[in-house]
Amino acid sequence: MLDRTRRAALPKHHSMSVPRTMFAAAIDRFGGPDLITGHALPVPTLDAGEVLIAVDTAGVGGWDADIRDGLYAPRKPHFPLVLGFDGAGVVAAVGAGVRRLRAGDQVYSYSWQNPKGGFYAEYVAVAADNVAPIPKRLDLRHAGAIPITGLTALQGIDDALGLKKDEIVIIHGASGGAGTLAIQFARLRGARVFATASGKEGVELVQEMGAHAAVDGKRVHIDDAARRFAPDGVDAVLAFAGGDALEQCLNVLRPDGRLAHPNGIEPAPKKRRGMTLIRYDAVAGVREFERLGSAVQAARLKIPIAECYPLVKAGKAHQRLAEGHVLGKIVLAIHGT
Ligand SMILES: NC(=O)c1ccc[n+]([C@@H]2O[C@H](COP(=O)([O-])OP(=O)(O)OC[C@H]3O[C@@H](n4cnc5c(N)ncnc54)[C@H](OP(=O)(O)O)[C@@H]3O)[C@@H](O)[C@H]2O)c1
Repeated sequence: MLDRTRRAALPKHHSMSVPRTMFAAAIDRFGGPDLITGHALPVPTLDAGEVLIAVDTAGVGGWDADIRDGLYAPRKPHFPLVLGFDGAGVVAAVGAGVRRLRAGDQVYSYSWQNPKGGFYAEYVAVAADNVAPIPKRLDLRHAGAIPITGLTALQGIDDALGLKKDEIVIIHGASGGAGTLAIQFARLRGARVFATASGKEGVELVQEMGAHAAVDGKRVHIDDAARRFAPDGVDAVLAFAGGDALEQCLNVLRPDGRLAHPNGIEPAPKKRRGMTLIRYDAVAGVREFERLGSAVQAARLKIPIAECYPLVKAGKAHQRLAEGHVLGKIVLAIHGT
């Protein structure tokens, strides 16, 4: 449980005056969800090319749990370590070299392993190129849910697969954070989408997101169902989960088809003869966020938020993540109660 005594000091609204200290959810050593505790920390200082964001919403994903566990631990980790790689908020200050953004702008951002600390905090300092105005049709809560998953989904569809109109794609593991968005981006490009999801509610969710056909990939033979949908095989597979079920998807891939997946799915698939295998990492940048913003508008993107926890319950959010079967995305409301 986090220290609630600091809550009195949480600002009720965003202001341009920045305090010297802030509330953050951080770890003092690597381990389980209960190690995430409340800390009073200095607000990060700003370099010339950086933006200070008063965070409204932080994303919670499997990669946060990996960091918490110490999976990507550097040789000399620096504690307390504030978790969180993405989120949305209001620009509180900009560095001397920043022209593109101004105090008061509503922005969202993705910053991997930021040495100045993550988004589970009232303030985060991020390189300006990794920060962008939120898409017009989103509020901060929904914008904060998608920097990582949105970039991952869009770059999977457009850059890794280069999906074209009328192509047939299997989106495997489509009921999670990235998959729910990837279905919509694939539809935006005019593709036909066969989605595999987890559980009955997962299947219902991916149908709502626009999948032409969907199956519970933990219960049915994916290859039989996908073959009925695409008797001549599918052009591409975008995988957000690995293992036997993914191998079933690959049985339906045309011999010269493409398989793309973000690094991190377990176990990672092996290349089969003839197939093009593209492994990728989501990339943040000015151009990348412009493309995401355009796609969010054009797709009228629906963003399923599975659960929203206040920052003081960040440990509980991680417990929920560990239980699995999260439909869509978990987020933290920085000023929630
Ligand atoms: N390298 C990068 O830049 C990058 C960026 C983002 C994400 N990633 C990786 O991409 C993957 C997806 O991320 P995410 O945030 O979307 O994860 P997620 O929310 O956990 O989504 C994965 C989904 O796949 C489902 N699933 C698992 N086995 C299935 C099966 N046999 N059939 C159908 N569905 C199945 C899961 O359901 P249950 O939870 O019910 O099992 C879950 O809904 C993760 O491995 C993540 O680490 C990498």
